[in-house]
Amino acid sequence: MTAHRDFINLTDLTPSELRALFVLADRMRRGEYRKRPLEGQALAMLFTKSSTRTRVSFEVGAWQLGAHALFLTPRDVQLGRGEDVADTARVLDRMVQGIVIRTFAHADVEDFARFAQVPVINGLTDLQHPCQILADLLTVQQHLGTFDGKTVAWIGDGNNMANSWCDAAALLGFELRLACPDGYDPDPTILARATATGKVKLVRDPAEAAAGAHVVTTDVWASMGQEEEQAQRSRAFARFQVDAALMATAAREAIFLHCLPAHRGEEVAAEVIDGPQSRVWDEAENRLHVQKAVMAALMGGESLT
Ligand code: CP
Ligand code: NVA
Repeated sequence: MTAHRDFINLTDLTPSELRALFVLADRMRRGEYRKRPLEGQALAMLFTKSSTRTRVSFEVGAWQLGAHALFLTPRDVQLGRGEDVADTARVLDRMVQGIVIRTFAHADVEDFARFAQVPVINGLTDLQHPCQILADLLTVQQHLGTFDGKTVAWIGDGNNMANSWCDAAALLGFELRLACPDGYDPDPTILARATATGKVKLVRDPAEAAAGAHVVTTDVWASMGQEEEQAQRSRAFARFQVDAALMATAAREAIFLHCLPAHRGEEVAAEVIDGPQSRVWDEAENRLHVQKAVMAALMGGESLT
């Protein structure tokens, strides 16, 4: 991870650290890891957006590793009344051993990490969702065994998850085809870095992206903070639903992933998310295992070599 030992983008990990993290997370998933490397520590969890999976997995995971977790929303802390990000970071730094942040601006998480010496973990920003992509990758490895020679199809919005998939493809070298409507592309800098590898391609037709793919994945059409764009987005994304017909164009052994929460009948048909190719519940469970591995590495001294 970075010199400051933060986890803000997937690219804070080298490919070999990523693979070591999966080994550790897999031991946790199998119940083979019984250590409590965070005994006596505290984890501050600052959330300015809603959360089910991220909140519960970090809170339970921290507890299982021996730490006490504090869930803090803007209503609970002075940040919501205008206290500086920098001052909040400096104060938390004196009291806790790790900080998870979920917020809107990616720069706020980077600022936090600059002013806090303790590890800062990105629990989702408008730009990135690095903890979720770790869980998705672990799920791919769990069900397909390897990333080598695999193709992932991203269908829908070029949002935080799409950006994190771009980073993952660039880091691990698998093929990624993103089908996004015009005007809803991933972040241009992240996309350019990923397409430069020759493994990542942006197309406009969902069927072109899904053809022969081993993983088909999508996300909501309107992310948190975009609720007022829902109607306009529903029109733009009308052709971008993952349904049984689209899944039929993928590889026979293809799996379906979704970070959740899902809107059945919008970005995914119920027959797909509730069907035999769906691995979304393993994917959600894997949040717990990968984040425990991240905390054990950043806060608990577990080695990723
Ligand atoms: N996938 C995910 O991050 O879910 P939550 O918003 O429930 O945390
Ligand atoms: N793209 C979604 C992911 C939710 C976990 C959002 O940002 O709302």
